[in-house]
Amino acid sequence: MLRTVQATRYVTPLREGGSLPAIIEADDLGLYVLKFRGAGQGPLALLAELVAGEIGRALGLRVPELVFVEVDAVLGRNEPDSEIRDLLKRSVGLNLALDYLPGSTMFDPAAGDTADPELASLAVWFDAFVTNVDRTPRNPNLLKWHRELYFIDHGAALYFHHNWPSIEQAPWSLFPAIRSHVLLPWASAIDAADREAHTRLKTSTFETILDAVPDAWLLPETGDLTPAEKRGGYLRYFTERLAASSIFVEEATRVRAELV
Ligand SMILES: Nc1ncnc2c1ncn2[C@@H]1O[C@H](COP(=O)(O)OP(=O)(O)O)[C@@H](O)[C@H]1O
Ligand SMILES: [Mg+2]
Repeated sequence: MLRTVQATRYVTPLREGGSLPAIIEADDLGLYVLKFRGAGQGPLALLAELVAGEIGRALGLRVPELVFVEVDAVLGRNEPDSEIRDLLKRSVGLNLALDYLPGSTMFDPAAGDTADPELASLAVWFDAFVTNVDRTPRNPNLLKWHRELYFIDHGAALYFHHNWPSIEQAPWSLFPAIRSHVLLPWASAIDAADREAHTRLKTSTFETILDAVPDAWLLPETGDLTPAEKRGGYLRYFTERLAASSIFVEEATRVRAELV
């Protein structure tokens, strides 16, 4: 489901976050924002970026196209910055990137940006579903581009996977961070978003997305689970969290009522 391109040129680092993503050029002449496998957060951040991003797209949210990017040892060999050279060295092989949206700007309520209630509600539902904490007013990860909102940076989502045994309770977990969601003030139709999500997300949606995850990113850090068993765990998490969505829908609705 994802294309694979070859990185041909390291253009410039994006210094905002800690993971040091970069704009790169690829052999299809496209520019992409590359998320490095060798960055501190490791392959699970790329897995979250891919899986949460594609779930967002399946829900109808705008997510820049995601592609696999092959990085070879030649790329960045002449980078003067040793931190970047090391990062590139650790990331030789398969990485993940988003289509670069030139001229996009970050959503900023303080500057008067507002959002459509339907979109805001779907976004709140989505971030609660995938437990994404990175959608706050200070760090919205929401790009305005051609008058539309684009959702980026899902590497911190699915936090249960950093502590795999927590998967036993994770589908039913509350998501208190929803309180700080940048779009919560506009999310007046979370119930309708819930119904919409249930028509759009099927078990097969999750299966197709999980199949696209490279085996090597399904780290066997918990004993000896195989990649297939890990995929099965994620699938169970998504189907059970979807079935129990009223838990986080009620929470988001309640928190919003206190806010507005
Ligand atoms: N697809 C994109 N198009 C344009 N700019 C982007 C894109 N993806 C990221 N950026 C810019 O790069 C910054 C860092 O990328 P992000 O994915 O948020 O990584 P992190 O926050 O982990 O460093 C973003 O805040 C945004 O300004
Ligand atoms: Mg970010």
